[in-house]
Amino acid sequence: MEVTIRDDEIKRAAILDAKSYLEQEGVTDPEVGIVLGSGLNDYADKMKDPIRIPYDKIPHFATGKAEGHRGELVYGELFGKKVIIMAGRFHYYEGGSMDKTVLPARTLLAFPSFKRMIITNAAGCINKDWNQGDLMIISDHINCSGANPLIGTNLDEYGPRFPDMTDTYDKVLRDKLKAVGEKEGISLREGVYAMMSGPSFETPAEIRFLRTIGADAVGMSSVPEAIICNHAKKEIIGISMLSNMAAGVLDQPINSAEVNETGRRVHDIFSRVVDLAIQI
Ligand code: HPA
Repeated sequence: MEVTIRDDEIKRAAILDAKSYLEQEGVTDPEVGIVLGSGLNDYADKMKDPIRIPYDKIPHFATGKAEGHRGELVYGELFGKKVIIMAGRFHYYEGGSMDKTVLPARTLLAFPSFKRMIITNAAGCINKDWNQGDLMIISDHINCSGANPLIGTNLDEYGPRFPDMTDTYDKVLRDKLKAVGEKEGISLREGVYAMMSGPSFETPAEIRFLRTIGADAVGMSSVPEAIICNHAKKEIIGISMLSNMAAGVLDQPINSAEVNETGRRVHDIFSRVVDLAIQI
């Protein structure tokens, strides 16, 4: 007898297992999700009396312990909203599996209360008019990873086979975030994020190519979560911390320690921008 294993059934089962475990631990009705990127995990300390769950306890979750990532889920209240903070993420380059990369986002989508995903990352700055340490609201993305998390049988209950990507990063929310930031004296860049698979940093030629095709920043994450949440038509806000100038922009090699150093330097402003992104 031939046995057919259906990829959609496997995905549904993994999502349900993870969701049931979170519910059992007291995660009931999250409204906002925040994914914290490299060097930005300290935002998780903001929450008072949270429920904290290490990723390795959650069924099917990959640990996501790349440098600068804690690998834990933190649930509680911020600004009167129920918030799940993902302190650390599992990158595509860590396992070459998009399903593993997006399981945390898919698990959030399984909660009917879930409305908004705030995706943060550290990124290399391609735009020559900008500086290391600037914060960029993502207006759009270019997926150069060579993969897509929606490949495979479509989960029709979340969204269509061929989702429109025109307004992935909600324009109204971007304008609001810029405006409230400006009121507090925080200037925010706005631009296009390109995802490369990594884990090697880009070559200077790749960075010239990415600039030519319209990218302002480059990183190794975020696009998978954005595609998954846009598939389900959720609100998405993307914030990049430009941790370093991309390869070849300056006459010096890229140093991965810069990511965490810049994260520490801009921590207070970054925190305030995430606060605002929850509230707008
Ligand atoms: N390239 C890719 N990913 C990154 C970079 C970079 O320069 N900086 C931080 N994440």
